[in-house]
Amino acid sequence: MTRRKLIAGNWKMNGHIDHLRELHGIEKAAKAHPQVDVAICPPATLIAPAVARVPNLAIGAQDCHASDKGAHTGCLSAAMLKEAGAHHVIVGHSERRADQGETDADVHGKAEAAHRHGLTAIVCVGETEAERDAGEAEMVVTGQVAGSVPADATADWLVIAYEPVWAIGTGRVPTLDDVAAMHAAIRAKLADMIGDKAEGVRILYGGSMNGDNAADLLAVDNVDGGLVGGASLSADKFVPIIEAGAAQG
Ligand code: 13P
Repeated sequence: MTRRKLIAGNWKMNGHIDHLRELHGIEKAAKAHPQVDVAICPPATLIAPAVARVPNLAIGAQDCHASDKGAHTGCLSAAMLKEAGAHHVIVGHSERRADQGETDADVHGKAEAAHRHGLTAIVCVGETEAERDAGEAEMVVTGQVAGSVPADATADWLVIAYEPVWAIGTGRVPTLDDVAAMHAAIRAKLADMIGDKAEGVRILYGGSMNGDNAADLLAVDNVDGGLVGGASLSADKFVPIIEAGAAQG
């Protein structure tokens, strides 16, 4: 089974309107390498301006509410993000699980909302350093998959991102063997849950991915792309990751 690689950038809470100039180089690289999918998830305020500026680049969001509307001050529904022009939405990022106390059940509801409104849900999972040191990494991560992924998920709208918490923004990455073992464990858990459909689901690696390590990480079995934080903030740093994905596409 060949899965198209997806190289997705998560700008987190970074960037103002002038930062959108970086998207031109990213859009150009995406066009030059049609064998890979490329997406950028900027802050929600920049989704519509980004879509207007680079209409051929897939733009995504970083979170959505599980409900379609209601008394949830400050929150955004999947339908609102879709209307703004988003194609994807990241749900359950470890920063939200930590800062906003999001549970697997919350993430499950957000993924369902994304699907209801035609967005691809990028469901994030990952262990802390203490959990890895305790030998619990696979148990924790497969537990997050079990709790966060809706039972009717298909590759058409579900992407998983494995992001070890201790590798995010630290310059540290797991060994390639550890990445392979975790991605295989995630796929096996998905197969338990959704059967044959698991084969098509893309599992991204995230955590200190950059132009130097992307080719090695993207060559690992069951690594179907990357979810990139810091290195997605500039075209200069992100384009080499797109190229590494394309070389294997
Ligand atoms: P870094 O690439 O900055 O480590 O961030 C990874 C991440 O959290 C992407 O969602």
